[in-house]
Amino acid sequence: MSTSSNIKSFSDYQDAYNASLRNPESFWSSIAESDYVWQKKWDQVCEFDLSKAHVRWFLNAKLNITENCIDRHLTTRGDQTAIIWEPNDPQEKALEISYSQLSQEVNRTANMLKSLGVKKGDRVCLYMPMIPELAYAVLACARIGAIHSVVFAGFSAKSLADRINDASCKLLITADGGFRGAKITALKAIADDALENCPSIESVVVKRRTGTDVRMKEGRDLWWSDAIESMTDICPPESMDAEDPLFILYTSGSTGKPKGMVHSTAGYMVYAGYTFSTVFQYEEGDVYWCTADIGWITGHSYILYGPLSAGATSLMFEGVPSYPDLGRFWDIVDKYKVNIFYTAPTAIRALAQCDMELVHSHDLSSLKTLGTVGEPINEEAWNWYSENIGKGRCPIVDSWWQTETGGMMISPISGITPLKPTYAGLPLPGVQACLMDNEGNEINGMGAEGRLCIKHPWPGMARTIYGDHQRYVETYFSEYPSMYFTGDGSRRDAEGYYRITGRVDDVVIVSGHNLGTAEIENAIDEHPLVAEAAVVGYPHSIKGNAIFAFVQCDEPPDNIEDFRSEVLNLVSQQIGPIAKPEQILLVGALPKTRSGKIMRRILRKIAAGERSEFGDISTLLNPEAVNTILEDLQATNH
Ligand code: WTA
Repeated sequence: MSTSSNIKSFSDYQDAYNASLRNPESFWSSIAESDYVWQKKWDQVCEFDLSKAHVRWFLNAKLNITENCIDRHLTTRGDQTAIIWEPNDPQEKALEISYSQLSQEVNRTANMLKSLGVKKGDRVCLYMPMIPELAYAVLACARIGAIHSVVFAGFSAKSLADRINDASCKLLITADGGFRGAKITALKAIADDALENCPSIESVVVKRRTGTDVRMKEGRDLWWSDAIESMTDICPPESMDAEDPLFILYTSGSTGKPKGMVHSTAGYMVYAGYTFSTVFQYEEGDVYWCTADIGWITGHSYILYGPLSAGATSLMFEGVPSYPDLGRFWDIVDKYKVNIFYTAPTAIRALAQCDMELVHSHDLSSLKTLGTVGEPINEEAWNWYSENIGKGRCPIVDSWWQTETGGMMISPISGITPLKPTYAGLPLPGVQACLMDNEGNEINGMGAEGRLCIKHPWPGMARTIYGDHQRYVETYFSEYPSMYFTGDGSRRDAEGYYRITGRVDDVVIVSGHNLGTAEIENAIDEHPLVAEAAVVGYPHSIKGNAIFAFVQCDEPPDNIEDFRSEVLNLVSQQIGPIAKPEQILLVGALPKTRSGKIMRRILRKIAAGERSEFGDISTLLNPEAVNTILEDLQATNH
């Protein structure tokens, strides 16, 4: 059984790409067949109607993803490290969890879930720090066919409650607290707040991590150590249909509440594993480290499912890049002799500003491949990464993809496809990318710019939005009929290389986190003095983008600084600290179109520092609002 990539040269890539175009079904079925274990093979490879967002892969196949990520490795690499766990505090003992140990822990956790009444198809919410139990819990859900919904541990009580309720989760697993650098997040206390409004939750399992004092609710809350104590490490994998949901993961959209993207079992598995082995060119024995949090899709696909299905050694880091100092990443690379390192542009930009001694004092010679994901990487950051971390000899895979796509879509293949700084490069095999204009026509030819769409289904794509298929159709498959619309703009150069230019909708990516401007506006609107708020993104040198909030009040606040901090608190409480605006400007009026819509185009320009060139503002109901805002800005010395 091969788990490594069979693309070894540029012509292999071209052959694979062409084969995937000619016959997507035979392309994917041969990968599924050779790289994975199945309880029963499929009757049909793919069935789809994109106009209805109807997509099925590997129809009627039966499998369990944990057999692929764990059991099948036991005979060949039971003693090999599956997960290296590096704690927040470098003085604390790290763990090297072998595939056999992982199997035992996952099975015990799976039995614990069963003992709490969790069954196939039930939803389980995980609100946890980056500790091994998070990995065990994710895989334990998959083992018994429960659908996991991981909520990033930086989200607020309200965001957690909304996500629990949206999917009617039955069980919540959390921890007393989470370490993040010098700080402790009181996760159980936040969960308690959330659970005031979550009737579907029957039990809460709490892993002790920080020793923080917690309230345990009689009859509902149990300690992980008690709940797991008498569990055995034998738990047969549930037999899952290829299309049974594996997990739900929420992502912010242009409008409305976050969308619970639903991923399938078989298609997601094949895609996460294939893209992992191909893009990183993972070789037996390599130590691989993705710095993402498992609360995001990157952690799902490229800390857990992709690497584990390939039998890799995957490093999981609990802490932050700045603790105990800004050399921590390089310290970890040196300590474990990491070969493949995958991080976000925002981290690179922040680390590039530090004292270079923090880099040079570490041996980074083990590195072979560097990756980035989550937002466009600027040329300066790309060059810094390549020269200082890769020492000019490591390819940089700038991989473009999304929560919705399940895995990488457009990306260099390490050491194989040519690199162009700031370009994600060529579509991976199986990915039929195209550019569309605003009128709905495909832009053919090279040297073009447009909206990035995908013409043919791929196995890893999300199947629906939990509980709202119509929204799935409308958001992704209606703008351009029978195509998947990504929400991103892109340029394609003379050789067909793609460069992602950023979101074309009202999602702003701040430090690699997707934020819906509407959600932030709703949070600000909760303030009793606020009449209306308009939120836009603007370029920021470290975070990529930052949030600018234009706020109109019914009456002026008595103390502007107090008002600002109340607004920031509201955003923190309603969404989480990551969504806090960098700038809040009190304005006399917001520019509106005659139909009453806020003209964000102008606000984006103002936020980006533009002071005069606003284009045609004659369609505004209140063109004078633009000058008023500029005066408001001047008055606050912006
Ligand atoms: C952006 C993260 C430029 C893009 C895996 C996309 C990127 C959104 C890149 C998805 C990249 C991701 N270059 N932009 N290499 N990778 N993006 O759902 O706007 O958290 O639509 O998934 O991040 O973010 P998400």
